[in-house]
Amino acid sequence: MSMTARADVTGLAAEPSARDLRHIPGSDGWPWVGNTLRLLADPKREVERMAALYGPVYRSRSFGMRVITVLGPEANEFVLFDRHRLFSSGQGWGPFLERLFPRGLMLLDFDEHRLHRKALSAAFKTEPLKAYLQGLNAGIAKGVAAWTARGGEMRFYPEIKKLTLDLAATSFFGRDLGADAERLKSAFVDMVAAIVAVVRVPLPGTPMARGVAGRKFMVEFLTREIAARREGKGEDLFSELCRATTEDGRLLSDQEVVDHMSFLMMAAHDTLASSMTSFVWLLCANPQWQDKLRQEIAGLGLPRGAPLPYDRLDDLPLTEMAFKEALRLIPPVPALPRRLVRDTEFRGFKLPAGARVGVNPVYTHHMPEIWPEPETFDPLRFTEANSRGRHKYAFVPYGGGVHMCLGLNFAQMQAKCFAYHFLSETEASVAQGYKPAWQLWPIPKPNDGLVIRVSSFAKSRS
Ligand code: HEM
Repeated sequence: MSMTARADVTGLAAEPSARDLRHIPGSDGWPWVGNTLRLLADPKREVERMAALYGPVYRSRSFGMRVITVLGPEANEFVLFDRHRLFSSGQGWGPFLERLFPRGLMLLDFDEHRLHRKALSAAFKTEPLKAYLQGLNAGIAKGVAAWTARGGEMRFYPEIKKLTLDLAATSFFGRDLGADAERLKSAFVDMVAAIVAVVRVPLPGTPMARGVAGRKFMVEFLTREIAARREGKGEDLFSELCRATTEDGRLLSDQEVVDHMSFLMMAAHDTLASSMTSFVWLLCANPQWQDKLRQEIAGLGLPRGAPLPYDRLDDLPLTEMAFKEALRLIPPVPALPRRLVRDTEFRGFKLPAGARVGVNPVYTHHMPEIWPEPETFDPLRFTEANSRGRHKYAFVPYGGGVHMCLGLNFAQMQAKCFAYHFLSETEASVAQGYKPAWQLWPIPKPNDGLVIRVSSFAKSRS
């Protein structure tokens, strides 16, 4: 039977059966669980194992779904650039995000996605970014000062998660949210936790039920604020969205603003916390780079404690390269799911409509033919000379093509602002021989929270 003849409720062809995919090398894994356990234990190793066994286009089964994984820069370009509008992002991410973050940008496709992306882009232009940087400077300086005052050992990951959430409360909302801040933060944390909840229905007491309750609060809170923010002159992200218009000049509806705003908070939070953590880990493991960045920062010639001005961001090229190298080694979004809208072909394999297709930044970022000694931290891979001739889709921490991360300039700005304050004020180190284990899925984090020691850099100088 032809795959395209059957359609599911979304209008897409139904997911192909095992029979429909048997021409693609691969394995369904164990009965019921498929390859899920292996993937959960170590997703990078599992993808490398499957690639070694079956090649760069293979099928597997995990989380109850059959997936065709396509590997390498050409595959990334084929799927992400999506010249022929074949791949649905909404259908790929839907099973994970639809319930708690419906109609976020990544869940929209094709013409509708383009319309909304253009409207949201206004909030990521230079002037709004400048305004967000003011909030980031103040919040990060305060957070770093508290860590330095405490000194000694700290678990970095939970601290940066908390700080990132506090920063979002200012750069995303622009004012002190008072009593609402704590409730909003915990609603958000519950929503994010429910993304990977095993029980997908909101039965009482389950993470999904807490996530659904969190969304209810979030929707009520955001909706209540929209009218005033449309009238006001706020320079925060939420106010920008409230005033954003589509090409035909219409404001986004209240529901659209709410859905985009909650999605943006989710898209920003864990990715930033994860990337700042890998950045700090790699700077602790490579102290010579910590010194280099500190020198670059000192070279800015700014008075101690001064905010990092927006027009000096480009004067931190080594910091930018070091952050990129952290994103290469531990990409915060290790795999990107899509679903095929029509039959297509890749590397001689027919990929049937309805199939789930995944690309894998973490695999591409460790291909030794592109990245010699891939496990070594070497920010100089990203100099202009060393990047020459490298495939555009060999480095894809932010994805690529139409759904490429809208917040990437925000993320780089926050990383530089963080490095600027953190390295000006502190020296960070880890115990000799220490190497944290990382849980890579769904978003990488160190299992033990990353134990570092911080001491005041100013004191060590005097
Ligand atoms: C280091 C931090 C970040 C990383 C590594 C990252 C990574 C990504 C990736 C890989 C995608 C594409 C997913 C796909 O194609 O399936 C994406 C999309 C997106 N990201 Fe980020 N992100 C980061 C930070 C942020 C921040 C700070 C924001 C907002 C302030 C943000 C907003 C978005 C949005 C709105 C999309 C959807 C774009 C679309 O569908 O058109 N991200 N991000």
